[in-house]
Amino acid sequence: MDIIYPHHSMAEVLTENYHLLPVINRFGIQLGFVDATVEEICQKYEINTDFFLAIINTFHNENYFPEQKMQEFNPLKIVDYLRKTHDYYLTVIIPGMENILEKLIESCSLNCEKMKPIRKFYQKYKEELLAHIQDEEQNVFPYIIDLVRNKKISDGYSIHTFEKEHTNVDMKLNDLTMLFLKYLDPVYDNTLCNEFLITLLRFEKDLKNHARIEDYVLVPAVESIEKKLRK
Ligand SMILES: [Fe+2]
Ligand SMILES: [Fe+2]
Repeated sequence: MDIIYPHHSMAEVLTENYHLLPVINRFGIQLGFVDATVEEICQKYEINTDFFLAIINTFHNENYFPEQKMQEFNPLKIVDYLRKTHDYYLTVIIPGMENILEKLIESCSLNCEKMKPIRKFYQKYKEELLAHIQDEEQNVFPYIIDLVRNKKISDGYSIHTFEKEHTNVDMKLNDLTMLFLKYLDPVYDNTLCNEFLITLLRFEKDLKNHARIEDYVLVPAVESIEKKLRK
């Protein structure tokens, strides 16, 4: 299944790609689908099927980019979804990852020196990520909400003034994974180490897709409103 369509069975979609589980939770969707299709589940939860498909397909297939539809989505809905994702990172992923990292450090038996730079690198990365999320919550999203609700546009300002590049946040997480894979001494609990790496890799994927939704779904939708207001 390269692209997910409305007629696909929801249970099959999730069997094919379990990374979509936290994504559907952000829409408030819970398990127990029986044989319902994606469209039927969207109707049950009163979610716009096209919007839902645009989000899950962006996660599911890196080449997916339904340009035509992007501009039709209400940016407030996209912002709502992105805020739920930020909340999930802040309350579930980051504390969970830290918990495993601390246990992993505690499990170190012999030379634990190499763990110190990893903890430091992680802390630095976390600060940057939190700053990025805070910037979106405090500057980018309020700009969009004001634009949509009050049709307010100022000369010299556009979505590009507010939305920062994602390259840095993406790359640092990959550096952290590489630190583990390439330079960690084998003096740690293997199960904890694997658990940390799997969490890290899953988060990396989720974060990349989150950034793609911001760049390819949110920004074009906002640009289209800016264009109309400038006419
Ligand atoms: Fe974000
Ligand atoms: Fe972002």
